[in-house]
Amino acid sequence: MKKIKNILLIITGGIAAYKSLELIRRLKDQNINVTCILTKSGSEFVTPLSVASLSGNHVYSDLFNLTDESKMGHIQLSRETDLILVAPATTNIISKMAYGSCDDLASTVLMATDKQVIVVPAMNVRMWHNPATQRNIQMLIKDGVSFIGPDKGDMACGEYGLGRMSETQEIVESILELNLSLLDQPLKNLSALVTAGPTKEQIDPVRFISNESSGKQGYAIAQSLFNMGAQTTLITGPTNIPLPDGPTIVKVNTAEEMLTITEKLLPVDIAVCAAAVSDYKVNKTKITKIKKTGEGISLDLSENPDILKRISKRNSNRPSLVVGFAAETENLKKNAETKLLAKGCDWILANDVSNGKIFGEDNNEITFISKDRLETWDKMSKDSVAMKLSNNISDYFSA
Ligand code: C5P
Repeated sequence: MKKIKNILLIITGGIAAYKSLELIRRLKDQNINVTCILTKSGSEFVTPLSVASLSGNHVYSDLFNLTDESKMGHIQLSRETDLILVAPATTNIISKMAYGSCDDLASTVLMATDKQVIVVPAMNVRMWHNPATQRNIQMLIKDGVSFIGPDKGDMACGEYGLGRMSETQEIVESILELNLSLLDQPLKNLSALVTAGPTKEQIDPVRFISNESSGKQGYAIAQSLFNMGAQTTLITGPTNIPLPDGPTIVKVNTAEEMLTITEKLLPVDIAVCAAAVSDYKVNKTKITKIKKTGEGISLDLSENPDILKRISKRNSNRPSLVVGFAAETENLKKNAETKLLAKGCDWILANDVSNGKIFGEDNNEITFISKDRLETWDKMSKDSVAMKLSNNISDYFSA
């Protein structure tokens, strides 16, 4: 497999720029050659000399520098790399990228590149939540730009919240995961289905049984399997997040609908059941709104089909690899191991959801369980979990 050997690191002007110095070192530890562009405001926080000394390469800053342009023009700079990493990325560069402005070397290179771009935002919490920033990010995600972070925590400005630049180790890990995935398309001859999101079981026209699942993890998995070349279908319950770009999307409401589509899609090579399927459905959905009686009511419920179990235990057209999730509030490992056997799937990705952890968050802490392997993965973004899982899937099929 091809590996990422060259990264063009764009350092923009935020206090987190000091972290990019450590990032250069850690990337170099992985034998990755790092060339840097330091924006004008970036150089208010770190000096070109520190960046050049640590990267061991010339530092580029100026679009109109004749010497630089004659040695390595900005178009070449944007193409002669395997990946562009913008870290830290300020609100300003994110906005410029979204709108395609190019008034300095960094933004011009970003416009001229044909390479994968990863953005690591770092900004004040209010700037992060500002609707303009969020709009710009959605535009960039649609354009195929990836994001790492931001993290939640204390900020240099004294506030608390989302906006901290992700830790160096997490950035390096995400890049290593990407290393094995994006450049090659190791899953290109395989087909995959992913279930994601909650299901919605209607009680009456205005009420339903559902759960807090955001769909983020399943969507990230569908995206990364697609990016690695798998012919991917995402079967999703109702969510409020942007759909992945590339996979075929089938929207469903109920568990029964999810099962029907899942079975219709067989045979596939890979099935990942990340949906939080409602365990129960209402036996007779009321056509009219249930009125208050003053005495309470009871709902007549029956168990929904277990999609994961049904496809794992099929005699015909069983996918070669079936992956399930286990959200546990106690005895994580033991319950997940029991689930692996009970459902008959090949791998389980277990996570601790006690005290409402994980649902809707951007990070996940996974315990990976198969018949002969048990691994605790570091806490990482749901995108990184998706890439790590996809790389495991790739290894499984190439073995
Ligand atoms: O039994 P439990 O809901 O904890 O199992 C979780 C795993 O089973 C997840 O992978 C989920 O997508 C899958 N599941 C399913 N159909 C159900 C219930 C769970 O596919 N009805």
